[in-house]
Amino acid sequence: MTLITLNDKKNVFHLSNQWVSYVFSVEDKQLIHKYFGKKIHTYSGGMDYPEKTRSSFSPDLPFEDELKVSLDAVLQEFPGSNQGDYRSSGIEVVFDAHGNTNTKFEYESHSITKGVIPSPGLPSSFDAEKGESETLAITLRDEAEQVDVTLYYTIFEDSPTIVRKCRINNKGQASVKIDKLVSMSLDFPAATNELIHLSGSWAQERQVVREKINRGIKVLRSKRGSSSHNQNPFCAIVQPTTTEESGEVYGFSFVYSGDHETIIEKDSFDQLRIQMGINHETFSWVLESGDEFYTPEVIMTFSPNGLNGFSQEMHDFVTTHIVKSSYKEKHRPVLMNNWEATYMAFDEETIHSLMEEGAKLGVELFVLDDGWFGKRNDDTGGLGDWWVNETKLPNGLKGLATYAKNLNMSFGLWFEPEMVSPKSDLYKKHPDWVLHYEKKGMSPARNQYMLDLTRQDVRDYLYTSIEAILMSADISYVKWDMNRNFSETYAKQLSTSKQKEVSHRYVLGLYELLERLTTRFPDILFESCSGGGGRFDLGMLYYMPQTWTSDNTDPVERLRIQYGTSLVYPISTMGSHVSASPNHQNGRMTSIDTRGHVAMSGLLGYELDLLRIDEDEKEAMRKQIDFYKKHRDLIQYGTFYRLLSPFEGDQTAWMFVSKDKQEAIVFYCNGLASAAPSLKKLKLQGLLENQKYVFDNGVSSYGSELMNMGFYSLTKGHQDILGDFATSFSYLKGLSE
Ligand code: DGJ
Repeated sequence: MTLITLNDKKNVFHLSNQWVSYVFSVEDKQLIHKYFGKKIHTYSGGMDYPEKTRSSFSPDLPFEDELKVSLDAVLQEFPGSNQGDYRSSGIEVVFDAHGNTNTKFEYESHSITKGVIPSPGLPSSFDAEKGESETLAITLRDEAEQVDVTLYYTIFEDSPTIVRKCRINNKGQASVKIDKLVSMSLDFPAATNELIHLSGSWAQERQVVREKINRGIKVLRSKRGSSSHNQNPFCAIVQPTTTEESGEVYGFSFVYSGDHETIIEKDSFDQLRIQMGINHETFSWVLESGDEFYTPEVIMTFSPNGLNGFSQEMHDFVTTHIVKSSYKEKHRPVLMNNWEATYMAFDEETIHSLMEEGAKLGVELFVLDDGWFGKRNDDTGGLGDWWVNETKLPNGLKGLATYAKNLNMSFGLWFEPEMVSPKSDLYKKHPDWVLHYEKKGMSPARNQYMLDLTRQDVRDYLYTSIEAILMSADISYVKWDMNRNFSETYAKQLSTSKQKEVSHRYVLGLYELLERLTTRFPDILFESCSGGGGRFDLGMLYYMPQTWTSDNTDPVERLRIQYGTSLVYPISTMGSHVSASPNHQNGRMTSIDTRGHVAMSGLLGYELDLLRIDEDEKEAMRKQIDFYKKHRDLIQYGTFYRLLSPFEGDQTAWMFVSKDKQEAIVFYCNGLASAAPSLKKLKLQGLLENQKYVFDNGVSSYGSELMNMGFYSLTKGHQDILGDFATSFSYLKGLSE
């Protein structure tokens, strides 16, 4: 299938597959954006600049013909700077030869190749064996400076997605200081649009925010050194009428785990510019003569089928083209983690007892969390000292892994490699390995400092220590944690002019380390974590196929967290555990059903002290695990539909539908209980209209009835759902008549 075409006049590029079109033209060496959205057969518009003489205050391009065009008024693919476009620039540079900042990038050449062009050192989307993609590379040149910028556009045959990034190449003699370089800039014609983004905080990640886009600029960003709990690197542009079920959605997701920036600018002609890239507040890069620099990728996905349609496309894309682990389509194990059971106060005997209890419930993987290494008895010490604490674990990790194996479970381990505690042998030996500027001290967070991952010797130390531990016992899972954000971001071994490169260099260092370790241990299941979901992004998912969604394990707060997360990230990436009641984060009491049903809506785990749980609860857990194992293919890899939003009302519902639409699971959660509740109906989605389905309680109905008429969500069969935050988790199956 041909995915990228050039018209007869050789000036219009059209990227299209079955679903989408992306069109732009080369006019007087400028790249003029024409369209991105639902597929169009052929673009025949030609030279259709909008009215050019908007105002003489915006200068015209110095064209030779009569056409007067101001870059301030046209839709562009790559807006330069200091050249008469007063909107946000895609690039800001200082040409060191003379200090000039005005860019003049003009079309130079293009190439179309099969497949993806990976960015060295950065996670990139890739072709699945079954997929096919084409990449268009457009090279723009600033002739006076001898600097090239290449824009990359990859279109995949199996997804309504275009992937963008760019590269800058310094072919001149002098160095160039890059102060800003976006991965993509996209202009939309004037329209009324709304913005959706995922904002949050620790223990309250990815809350859905929806707002009208007014004139002016809005910036969504992180400068914490990580993608952050606070602002996920994602946004969507939707119509005011877009719902979960219908309407247009343009989603933008950044494949990056560090400081990011999304600029949403509505100009004075009501045109909209969206830019996504590394946060330029904490970035600059000195590009020496002969050097090149690649930006991370942006995934741009369009759906005409509402937010559910968008998420389903995104989930497929992430599973197929981003997650590279061998676990990408494999069933994920039901795990038990000792963190909320023991915190760091454990010994070998306690861990053995927890393992035994877990095994009785049907747990498949036991994860030993923080506290097994160095002198780590509380959060003031030990980080960096990656050797086993034999006072706590006299038989070492090997002993524990064997104990687990004998109980028919595999064994996994927690690490926090990027950090060092001031009370550690590593810090005593290498105080210079910490990011900081000597004369200004260091700000601790959770009593720890950040190792300088821009240094090769630091990365080598981490690689060697982790490799030794992973070789020392039968370890099949790693939880990679990161429990603070950056401050005093200064790397001693880098020159003065490179200090604003540190945040990005850190992320490149992290990616190099992850590449080495995940390649060395391809059969280990890696789960990333940053105090819960502080680094839930596509960069981390490229290396590690699942993420601990949040440190907040209260099922009620989890409704919003998991609902928001599902907008972008597949269910197979979301760790979710049953924990104790009252909950350790907010003290709320909930039933074992509510806790189980919410956790079963992701990658199920248990994280509570099973030695203090009564038999009834254990029996309920055993049943949950049985049910989950039976249906995990449907939950982890089925098609996910959000039905009722916890951001819009009391009730929450979502469902999982099998690819053949013959099976489904419906999750429902009531809000606060009422003796006289409103009798709202829940309408299902994604089923076959003419198929009869039977619920696990024996009630049967046709798909058309379940989807169009719906049913009272507060009852399950003839049984009422009672109590605050009561839930149901119902399985239904197609009936052959
Ligand atoms: C933060 C994580 O999110 C928790 O699950 C736990 O691993 C702790 N860190 C351990 O310090």
